[in-house]
Amino acid sequence: MSNNLSASKPTKDHLYKILVIGDLGAGKTSIIKRYVHDFFSQHYRATIGVDFALKVLHWDANTVIRLQLWDIAGQERYGNMTRVYYKEAVGAFIVFDVTRSNTFESVSNWKADLDSKVQLPDGSSIPCVLLGNKCDQQKEGIVNNPNKMNEFCKEKGFSAWFETSAKENVNVEEATRSLINEILTNDVINANHNQRDREQFTLTNNKKDDEKNQKCYKC
Ligand code: GTP
Ligand code: MG
Repeated sequence: MSNNLSASKPTKDHLYKILVIGDLGAGKTSIIKRYVHDFFSQHYRATIGVDFALKVLHWDANTVIRLQLWDIAGQERYGNMTRVYYKEAVGAFIVFDVTRSNTFESVSNWKADLDSKVQLPDGSSIPCVLLGNKCDQQKEGIVNNPNKMNEFCKEKGFSAWFETSAKENVNVEEATRSLINEILTNDVINANHNQRDREQFTLTNNKKDDEKNQKCYKC
């Protein structure tokens, strides 16, 4: 019986740290609450510092993904603390409010701050998805022009963008799935990278051993 149970256990268990950043009041906490607890409130209470949420996903028959969501206060704006918060993150959402174009204007700064403070082991940027939140309301600015949005995202290195509504539950799941897919792809690349490094290390060490042996042999 216990053997059967252990045989059916998932073989892969990933823990991913994901950052949720963007201007004050853009809806970061609301998106996380919708995603994790399927809950929404009109009431605004600014996040102080950072909050956390955990979502466990049974991704496929043998993969469990634990998403550790770091809900970073908009008022932390590119401050010194963001470096500490960003450490070891493997993915990020940058959220702006489609009803306030000034929150979109900060997106480039959030992205630059992110890229300067956290990288993947191979030195590349962590995957980042852009969310234009509150799409249940009247939109303002560039977000009304999908072609321009695509161009902007390509230029700034976003892996995708979505219009979301935490209120009406629009695209919250889809955006997260898109980010996880990017993270999983990077995981495979990095695993191969590490494997190559290990092989190289073994080769170099063997070579050193050979040299040592040779030296020994010579003396
Ligand atoms: P900080 O913690 O200050 O950085 O803000 P935040 O980005 O976490 O924003 P929060 O989720 O607290 O939302 C701010 C306000 O926007 C709240 O009053 C929410 O109810 C409202 N809000 C969030 N998402 C939506 C949405 O999709 N549609 C609408 N209409 N309102 C939303
Ligand atoms: Mg908040």
